[in-house]
Amino acid sequence: MPKEDKAAAPHSRGVAFVSEEAAMDRAVRLGARSWVSARPNPPVGCVVLDENGQAVGEGRHIRPGEPHAEVVALNQAGSRAPKSTLVVTLEPCNHHGRTPPCSERILKSGVRRVVYATKDSNPTAEGGATFLRHHGVDVQHTPHEGADRLNAPHLTWCGKGRPHVIAKWAQTQEGHMCPPPNHDRWITGIASRREVHRLRGRVDAILTGLGTVRADDCRLDPRLYPRRQTPLVAVASRNESIPRDTNIRKNAKLTRLTSPTPEEQLSSLAQLGVQVVLLEAGPTLLHAYWQAGLVDEAWVFVGPVGMPNGSGKSPIPDPKERLRLHAQGSATSFGPDHLYRLPIESN
Ligand SMILES: NC(=O)c1ccc[n+]([C@@H]2O[C@H](COP(=O)([O-])OP(=O)(O)OC[C@H]3O[C@@H](n4cnc5c(N)ncnc54)[C@H](OP(=O)(O)O)[C@@H]3O)[C@@H](O)[C@H]2O)c1
Repeated sequence: MPKEDKAAAPHSRGVAFVSEEAAMDRAVRLGARSWVSARPNPPVGCVVLDENGQAVGEGRHIRPGEPHAEVVALNQAGSRAPKSTLVVTLEPCNHHGRTPPCSERILKSGVRRVVYATKDSNPTAEGGATFLRHHGVDVQHTPHEGADRLNAPHLTWCGKGRPHVIAKWAQTQEGHMCPPPNHDRWITGIASRREVHRLRGRVDAILTGLGTVRADDCRLDPRLYPRRQTPLVAVASRNESIPRDTNIRKNAKLTRLTSPTPEEQLSSLAQLGVQVVLLEAGPTLLHAYWQAGLVDEAWVFVGPVGMPNGSGKSPIPDPKERLRLHAQGSATSFGPDHLYRLPIESN
């Protein structure tokens, strides 16, 4: 194979047969690589299978203004696109934005079948599935948990008109967020903290309350993952300014949110272009967001040590039980700690 063809070949080319399910798994993995760079667009991944079920093209949408995943994959498929099946993580767009509609390009390429995982709720882009069906393409909506997770921030932003809120906190075995006085302030270990820094580097903003700034003198930056993007740090404080001599002031991008309610605070962040916010607050601000129904995902780190005299009750005292009752979500270990990632029904 000539060098340039080799570079353009899909990862899965040469595999005798790729099922649509396996192709969707691959498309989700491709899209996940664009989770940060594609913003404010959704991080879409796509795989094209020829009539024999062989992968002949794949792609992802890397950044705004660049071709959408479907176009990258179809370009790679070239003359093998006619009669193919296009497997994509999000319903193909149907509008002229910075690039022409994917729905038209799919139709022109002679694709026979389209399988998509998440329906697009963006009022300006939706309708690709209807357009393609209307023009005789076999269109199948096959939900996929990984794709839903990938698209969650896009759906919150378009469907609810506000930033997607990931609330992260640590808690003790007893479900408390604050260790007893005179105890080490860390509930979890270094492996969990590294994972938090990785997450910080993947969001647009980190939000905390003044109580945490005062108690912990934290910096809330992704310094253990310095090559990631530097997020805005927002401190919610209605009454007092951010104290001068605090570590949080070392952040290159820092803002104070003075609006009284979580709804208004999120709307201020949206005006600053924030689509994904990581809420890393103490119990007061966290419960305010929880009660307002403004938490979309919870990342709950549970430390290994019992601390009976802790305080600050967690909104999810028993995340293991919640995971058992709601199948969606996951549990992972970081050293001796456990991380529970739980999607939450929000407003
Ligand atoms: N386990 C964990 O993951 C974790 C994480 C962070 C902190 N902590 C611990 O939590 C403790 C601090 O807790 P905290 O509850 O004082 O901190 P916090 O929730 O981070 O901050 C509370 C402050 O947020 C401000 N605020 C702004 N908008 C608000 C709203 N809509 N509703 C409620 N409050 C609002 C309030 O100040 P104004 O009235 O001036 O607006 C309030 O005093 C420390 O011990 C810290 O170590 C634990």
